[in-house]
Amino acid sequence: MVKIITVDGPSGAGKGTTSRRLAKKLGFHYLDSGALYRLLGMVAARHRVNTSDNKNLVPLARNMDIQFETTRAGEIRILLEGEDVTMELRTEQTATLASQVASHLEVREALLVRQRRFATLPGLVADGRDMGTVVFPDAQLKLYLTASIEERARRRYKQLLDKGESVSLRALESQVRARDERDINRDISPLVAASDAIEIDTSELSINEVLDAVLNIVLLKGLM
Ligand code: DC
Repeated sequence: MVKIITVDGPSGAGKGTTSRRLAKKLGFHYLDSGALYRLLGMVAARHRVNTSDNKNLVPLARNMDIQFETTRAGEIRILLEGEDVTMELRTEQTATLASQVASHLEVREALLVRQRRFATLPGLVADGRDMGTVVFPDAQLKLYLTASIEERARRRYKQLLDKGESVSLRALESQVRARDERDINRDISPLVAASDAIEIDTSELSINEVLDAVLNIVLLKGLM
C-alpha cells in the first residue's frame, strides 16, 4: 500500500522545506502541488489567457507539458515545455497568478488527476492547501502547519533577499495577507485544516525543530 502524508497550510508556514526533507528521509516521492498551480499561472500568462477565464484554463491545465527532476545535488528542477522555470516559478508575481487560477472548480478538477498520479510506492509526501481535505482524504497522516502572518512575511522577505531581490517587508506582508484571504475564502477547496489533521504552529520553531516534531509523529504513527 502506498503511504501518504499530507502537509497543508498557508504560504510561509514551512511546508515546502519540511515536506522535501521528510520525503528524502523516508525515501518517499514528493508532490509540490503549489508548483502545479504556479505552472498553470505561468502558462496562462504565456498564452495570454486571463486567470478569470476558466473555460480556456482547463485545456491548459490538462495538457501543460511539465517535468519535475531531481538533480544529483538533490535539488528539484521544474521544467515547462523543456525550459527550466524553477526560479521564475518562485516569484510573488507567479504566486499571485497561481492563487487566481486556483479559485476555479474546473481547474482544480483538471489538476486533481495529475496530483493523484504522484501517489506511487513506497509513499508520498504531498504539500499544498487541500491535500488532506480533497486530494488525499484517506492519507495515513495529515499535518497542518501554520505560523503568524508577520513571521511568514519575514521568512519570505529573507528568502527573496538571499536571492538578491529587493522588496519591501510591508508590501510583502500585504501580498501574503491578500493571498491568504483568497485561499481561505474561496468556495472550492478552501485552505482549511482537515478535521483529522495534526496542527503545528511553526512561528517560534526552526526548520530542524519542525522536522524533529514531524518525525516524532511519523514514528508514533508507525510510518517509519
Ligand atoms: O504553495 P504555493 O505558495 O506554491 O502555492 C501557490 C498558490 O497555489 C497558493 O496561493 C494557492 C494555490 N494552491 C492551491 O490552491 N492548492 C494547492 N493544493 C496548492 C496551491
